[in-house]
Amino acid sequence: MAELTTQIGGGTGYNIEAMRKFIDVPNYFSRVYLVDFSPSLCEIARRRFSRLGWKNVRIICQDARLFRLQNHEATISDTVDPSPSTRNQRSQDPKAALVTMSYALSMIPDFHSVIDSIPALLAPSGILSVVDFYVQNAVDISGRNYGGGSFDRHVNWLGRAFWRSWFEFDRVALEPARRDYLEYRFGTILNYNKRHYYLGGIPYYTWIGCQKVPEASGATVESPDMCVMEWLDATTKQSTRAAAGLLNLSLSLPLPSAFYQNHTSRLHYDEHHQQHTQFQNEYIYAFTWEDPKVDKELLKITSDDTILAITSAGDNILSYALCKPRRIHAVDLNPTQNHLLELKIAAFASLTYDDTWKLFGLGRHPDFRRLLLEQMSPHLSSQAFQFWVANASTFTSRLGCGLYETGGSRYAVRLAKYLFVLAGLRREVQRLCSCGTIKEQRAIWHRSLRRILLNRVLHRVVIRHSAFLWKALGVPPAQRQMIVDDYLRKVASKNATPTACGQAIWDYMTDTLDPVVDHSLMKHENYFYSLCLRGQYTKMLVTMLGLEKHY
Ligand SMILES: C[S@@+](CC[C@H](N)C(=O)[O-])C[C@H]1O[C@@H](n2cnc3c(N)ncnc32)[C@H](O)[C@@H]1O
Repeated sequence: MAELTTQIGGGTGYNIEAMRKFIDVPNYFSRVYLVDFSPSLCEIARRRFSRLGWKNVRIICQDARLFRLQNHEATISDTVDPSPSTRNQRSQDPKAALVTMSYALSMIPDFHSVIDSIPALLAPSGILSVVDFYVQNAVDISGRNYGGGSFDRHVNWLGRAFWRSWFEFDRVALEPARRDYLEYRFGTILNYNKRHYYLGGIPYYTWIGCQKVPEASGATVESPDMCVMEWLDATTKQSTRAAAGLLNLSLSLPLPSAFYQNHTSRLHYDEHHQQHTQFQNEYIYAFTWEDPKVDKELLKITSDDTILAITSAGDNILSYALCKPRRIHAVDLNPTQNHLLELKIAAFASLTYDDTWKLFGLGRHPDFRRLLLEQMSPHLSSQAFQFWVANASTFTSRLGCGLYETGGSRYAVRLAKYLFVLAGLRREVQRLCSCGTIKEQRAIWHRSLRRILLNRVLHRVVIRHSAFLWKALGVPPAQRQMIVDDYLRKVASKNATPTACGQAIWDYMTDTLDPVVDHSLMKHENYFYSLCLRGQYTKMLVTMLGLEKHY
C-alpha cells in the first residue's frame, strides 16, 4: 500500500466509491485525493467517505489548476527513514500512480492549464485515465499516428452540431480541442469510442495514457525494433515503426501508441495507408485452413529457430509457438488478422480455460464485452482493443452464428452449410466428421458431399470468379494468376481463355479437397476442415489433440 491516486473534478466522489468494484480502495491506496472546486459537491463527498469509513480519502476543495500534491503529502526528504536506499531519492516530490478525470475535462473552462499541471503530478510510470463525452470529425485526426486508432471516432455533422449545442446548455464544452490536447500532452496506451444508446446515442470515449516523454514512461524507440531488423534486409531497414517514432520525437509529438504498450509485440503500422484500409476493417479468415501438423513435420522447429509467417487467423502461429521457437514474426497486410491473433493471445494470457473454450472453441461468449474490458484489455494494442470493442457482437449476438461465421470466409462457410441443408445432408456431414476410418470417410465423401461442393454449376457460377476467390477464400488475384500459370504450363498451352482459367481453379479445388479426405481423419486431424463443416470445435477434438495440457 504505497500508491497515491488523484481524481480531478471528482464531484460527489461517486466514481471513487465505484472503483471498489475492481480494487480495494481503502487498502490499496495510501491516499486518495478528490479535487473539486464546488463546496457543495465536496460536502457530499465528505459525507460519503465518512459513511463508508474510508480514512485514506482526502477531499480538497480547490481549483484543479492550483492543486499540488506536495502541499498535502510529505516529500520523500521529509520521511523519517533517511536510510541509504532512500537518501538518493531525497527531495523528490510525491507523485500519483493514478490520476483520473471522469466527465470533468469537458467541464473545466481553462482546460489547458489543468492538463499542463498533470505531468508534474503523475509518477514516471503512472497512469492517467479520462472518460468523457466528445464530438469530432474524422478530418481532424486523419494523418495523426499517435491516437491509438480511430475506430468509431468520427461523429457525423448532425451529431456534432446537436450534442455540442445540447451540452452547452449545461456549460459543458465538447469541442475536440480538449481531447486533442490531452493526446498531444501524453502518450496514449489504449482508448475507445462508443455511443451511449440509452441516453440517445451520446458519443463518449475512454482513454488511458501515460507520460509522453519515452524515458519517463519506459517506452523506447530503438530496442523493440531489434526483432524487426532480424528479417528486414539492409535496404528496408527504415521500418515504419522506427521511422514513425523518430519523426514524432523530432516534432515533439507523442510516440504512436504501440510504443507505450505493456506488450510491445505489436509493431506500429500506418492505419490510414491504402494497403491496410483496402480490407475495410474486416478479416478474411476467422480460422486458418492449412494443417500446422504438416508444417511441423517438415520444419522440425527447435528453440534456435526464428519463424516468419503470414498471420492469417493466427492458429498456425500459435501452433508453432507450442514448439517454443526463439521468436515468431507474424506478418499480415490486413491489420484485423493481427487483431484476431492478439485477441487469441490475450485470451490465453488472461482468461480461464472455460472462457477461452467458449470464445475460440464455440465461437460465442455472452459475456465477451466484460471479459474484453476487464481482463483482456491490458494484453491488447489500442487498435486491436478498439476493433474488438466495435465488434463485440461477433461473440455475443444471439442472431449471429459466432466467430467462425464472420470475416470474408463466412461466404464460403455459409454457402457450404446452406447447400448441405438444402440437399438434406447435415447428418452426412456429422458422420464424416466423426467416422473412425479413412475408408469410411472416403466413402461418405464420394457418395454424397463431394458432388455438392465440387459441382460444375456451382463452380462456374460462383467459385471460379476472382471476387469470390479473394473475398471468401482469401486467394488474391496474384495467387489466382499463379494457379492459372501453373495449369497452362502443365497442359503446355499459352492461351488463358476463360475455360482454361476455370479448369485451372477446378483442378486446384479438387487437388486441395480430395487429398484431405484421402489422407487425414477429420475426427482428429486437419481440424480446420471439421471446424468449417461443423461451425465450431468439439471438446473431443481438443482432447484428442492433447491441447488442454498446454493451457
Ligand atoms: C460533471 S462533474 C463530474 C463529477 C464526477 N467526476 C462524476 O463523474 O460524477 C464535473 C466536475 O468538475 C468540477 N470542476 C470543473 N472545473 C474545475 C476546476 N477548474 N477545478 C476543479 N474542479 C472543477 C465541477 O465542480 C464538477 O464537480
